[in-house]
Amino acid sequence: MIQEFNHIESVSGELFLPGDKSISHRALIFSSLGNGKSVISNLSNAEDVNSTKGILQNCGIDILNDDSKISVFGKGIWGLLKPEKILYAGNSGTTARLLAGLLTMQKFGSVISGDESLSKRPMNRVTKPLIQMGAKLSLTGNNYLPIRIEPSESLKAISYELDVPSAQVKSAILIAGLFLNDVTKVIENVETRNHTEVMLSLPIQKNGNQTIISSSIKYAPIPNEYIIPSDISTASFFIVLTLLSKNSTLIIKNCSLNPSRTGILTVLKAMGAKIEIINQNISCGEIYGDILVESSKLVNVEIDSNIIPNIIDEIPILTIAGIFAEGKFKIKNAKELRVKESDRINAIVNNVKKLGLSVEEYEDGFSVSGEIKNNNCLFESFGDHRIAMAFSILSLLLQQSGKINNFECVKISNPQFIAQLNQIIG
Ligand code: S3P
Repeated sequence: MIQEFNHIESVSGELFLPGDKSISHRALIFSSLGNGKSVISNLSNAEDVNSTKGILQNCGIDILNDDSKISVFGKGIWGLLKPEKILYAGNSGTTARLLAGLLTMQKFGSVISGDESLSKRPMNRVTKPLIQMGAKLSLTGNNYLPIRIEPSESLKAISYELDVPSAQVKSAILIAGLFLNDVTKVIENVETRNHTEVMLSLPIQKNGNQTIISSSIKYAPIPNEYIIPSDISTASFFIVLTLLSKNSTLIIKNCSLNPSRTGILTVLKAMGAKIEIINQNISCGEIYGDILVESSKLVNVEIDSNIIPNIIDEIPILTIAGIFAEGKFKIKNAKELRVKESDRINAIVNNVKKLGLSVEEYEDGFSVSGEIKNNNCLFESFGDHRIAMAFSILSLLLQQSGKINNFECVKISNPQFIAQLNQIIG
């Protein structure tokens, strides 16, 4: 489906957004492992989160929707049942990788598959440490889904230094560690999002630039009440739209402000963005608050390599801010972008060229400079929700209009994207 966006003048108002996708996946998984009923409020309605929910249901977990809350009837860490079918992770890397850690430890076998995009994404980054733990796993073509998991009699705790800065790999190992008496340790040299350790209250040690996170059966989840703050990755599309529109102000209510996710705010503020945080609070270890945004004049800045994992999902929308900011926008040290829902470097470069801007592509990034020459473009989503939403925002800012091909993929993270836009467009 092609979706058209016409130029808008300004935005205003308040947005209550659905729950953070990363926290939602984890709330469902940890609730399933607790022994009894957990209640989740403001669970994300993203298709990715439905994939995690569906797999847990296929493993015998009852999940009920009552009003605005979700009840999950956990069965304890050994309570999952052997699924009768192949477990389908859809487009969701978080589902496939986190649940690989969980299913590896079970006393039954299982198979995880995914859609076309997920079946092209690397999985040996997660099977490598799990095999060191004694897991019996096999991948397709040594690196891809479907992944076949056999029960193993010889599982053991490990210490593992991450070779890719990935919260999904870190979480898969830590979740597997919850089934073992001995302590499993994950060592990370560059910080990645820390929801797993925060939500499970895992011990965290700092050693210079290294972070060491420990997990064992002692930290197995118990039934809980989760209130999921709004998704900062979803919010960032509306934040950038507000910054770049004239005479605009917007408040995003109850938004996740976990420091391992707020890199987008740090970079935008360094670029001159008027962003203020009000009403901070905390729930299940996760910080949240209201974000107040105002129209701003932006100037491009150098982006430090250490902040890249923190802003990895926001680079498509940050690029849109960079295009309208003064100076050259440049991203380096981000080769992970090549293995996301699409090759995001290729997707961004391809779409940005259509605007008549000067673009350079690197193996680990890209740069963009110049003035927009074409104000009426058809952009390609590459089936990637964040590319579709980033170029939708850009289209709203063009002097004429822009169209997005294969727009429907936005449902992967935010099925209500258009409705939310309509709420704030003046
Ligand atoms: C996620 C971690 C990140 C992020 C993804 C969600 C998570 O991936 O890009 O959207 O919930 O753990 P990597 O950890 O693989 O970089």
